[in-house]
Amino acid sequence: MNANVKVLVIGATGMAGRVVVTQLDQAAVPVRALVRDVPKARRLFPASVELRQGDAFDEATLQKALEGVSHVYFHPAATLSRSEARSMDRVGTRLLVKHLPATAHLIKLSEIGAGPNPSFHDIDCKYRSELDIRERLTSWTILRPTWFMESIPFLLTMGPVSVCFGGQPGPIWWLSCQDYALTVLACVQKPAVSQNRVFTLQGPEAYPMLDALRLFNREARTGKGSLRLPLGLLTLPARWSEQFRFNQQIMHYYNGRRETFESEPAHRLLHQPALTLAAFARRFHPPARGGTL
Ligand SMILES: NC(=O)c1ccc[n+]([C@@H]2O[C@H](COP(=O)([O-])OP(=O)(O)OC[C@H]3O[C@@H](n4cnc5c(N)ncnc54)[C@H](OP(=O)(O)O)[C@@H]3O)[C@@H](O)[C@H]2O)c1
Repeated sequence: MNANVKVLVIGATGMAGRVVVTQLDQAAVPVRALVRDVPKARRLFPASVELRQGDAFDEATLQKALEGVSHVYFHPAATLSRSEARSMDRVGTRLLVKHLPATAHLIKLSEIGAGPNPSFHDIDCKYRSELDIRERLTSWTILRPTWFMESIPFLLTMGPVSVCFGGQPGPIWWLSCQDYALTVLACVQKPAVSQNRVFTLQGPEAYPMLDALRLFNREARTGKGSLRLPLGLLTLPARWSEQFRFNQQIMHYYNGRRETFESEPAHRLLHQPALTLAAFARRFHPPARGGTL
């Protein structure tokens, strides 16, 4: 790997971003993280990770953080709002496109199936951000992962139950953040194969959503049930809660989607995911219940 490599990570402290930072750091890739909360980031990362206080929306801190980096890994938060002004994905991408040094390579998190979509703001934003990058940058890689396994206990679990809204009959090739992070690392280490390409990223096995929730709860011994509920139940809370509106949109979108396996190029050229959902769940087992976190 080129000795001048230095990766700026934006979105470093989140669910998947922190795994990316850790994986790059463990591979001895120099990492700088642009973070809003330095003490929080310092608790997460060793001293070898350079921290810069800033905000993806603040051009001054962004420009400072971009100085001297060879790569930027951009991991925008999920977009809850239709308001363009609040979209980290859209605004953050525009600012990066504007300020990225000519020699730097942008690796951008997108999402499987990103495309024009007037009824699901999040996936539409991702598509438009992809277009900005492809039309205006000279060196980039776009990663479109499917559902992260880590979403099961966080996004798909409410109190004592894991909930699947709608039929959600399509298979999902659940991907661990660890395998995702190893793919980001491969993009940095293998510029010849990753440059100016869009990769769909999926894990080693496919399960429909409800089967995945059941498997996770069984193997992680969470003691939680797994339920399928009608999508219509989200209609009322979605009227007054942005979070429920997002849940309704994402569940509606995935309910109508049939994921096909599209990751052969990523597996062959970048990284072959190995962590199965069952193995992930067993690792996730809470220590208080005798597990091996
Ligand atoms: N969940 C899935 O299964 C899945 C699958 C495919 C794609 N995705 C995509 O993954 C993304 C969400 O990933 P995640 O759940 O890992 O994210 P997350 O946990 O919500 O983390 C978001 C990160 O962005 C940072 N952040 C937010 N606003 C910022 C700002 N203005 N300036 C700088 N940093 C800011 C947060 O920092 P703080 O710590 O300061 O809040 C945090 O580090 C979405 O784009 C989603 O579409 C998710």
